[in-house]
Amino acid sequence: MAAFTLSPATSSQLRSSNNGLFSLPAPQGLMARSGKIHHLAGRERGMKVTCQAASIPADRVPDMEKRKLLNLLLLGAIGLPTTGMLLPYTYFFVPPGGGSSGGGTLAKDALGNDIVAEEWLKTHGPGDRTLSQGLKGDPTYLVVENDRTLATYGINAVCTHLGCVVPWNKAENKFMCPCHGSQYNNQGKVVRGPAPLSLALAHADIDDGKVLFVPWTETDFRTGDAPWWS
Ligand code: FES
Repeated sequence: MAAFTLSPATSSQLRSSNNGLFSLPAPQGLMARSGKIHHLAGRERGMKVTCQAASIPADRVPDMEKRKLLNLLLLGAIGLPTTGMLLPYTYFFVPPGGGSSGGGTLAKDALGNDIVAEEWLKTHGPGDRTLSQGLKGDPTYLVVENDRTLATYGINAVCTHLGCVVPWNKAENKFMCPCHGSQYNNQGKVVRGPAPLSLALAHADIDDGKVLFVPWTETDFRTGDAPWWS
């Protein structure tokens, strides 16, 4: 609602103020009354029109509790979708854990499933060396001993020369790198360069029936040296 009054114009400029009042000079020959515009004549010309915005009744102003509730609803409406978007990003940058409580990493097969030792040995015979996913996602060979048990170590397949994945050559009983010809014996010990070092080791433990890789920090049993990779 708005109220209109007439008073003598004192300025031709539009004026406004913070208290909701504003005035403007009435155009020549015009007057506002009850929503209708009438033509003025004579002395009524030159009046100004004052309009006062009606204030909102007090009982229609939301009380503080309602305002807080509305703010919370607004915060929830914005916060939930934002959190929903941020979580996948956060998860993306967190390295995947192995699902183990002991600091190791559960070995994964080519399909990304946990390797169950008993099931693995049903399909992998003596002397087998097959790649699995090991520590930090590195390709790591699981070794089946001649007595049909899993070796207690896994062999990291990353060549120590320039990082190619070294395949197992069953006929040669060696790991032979196709990139520059380095060779490693069946335990991953370097036997021909240019690779300067043996393949890294990891412990291959059995945890609740599953193969668990654990960092190898002890002496390298193949060379008698401290492990270069830890
Ligand atoms: S990367 Fe294996 S020999 Fe060069």
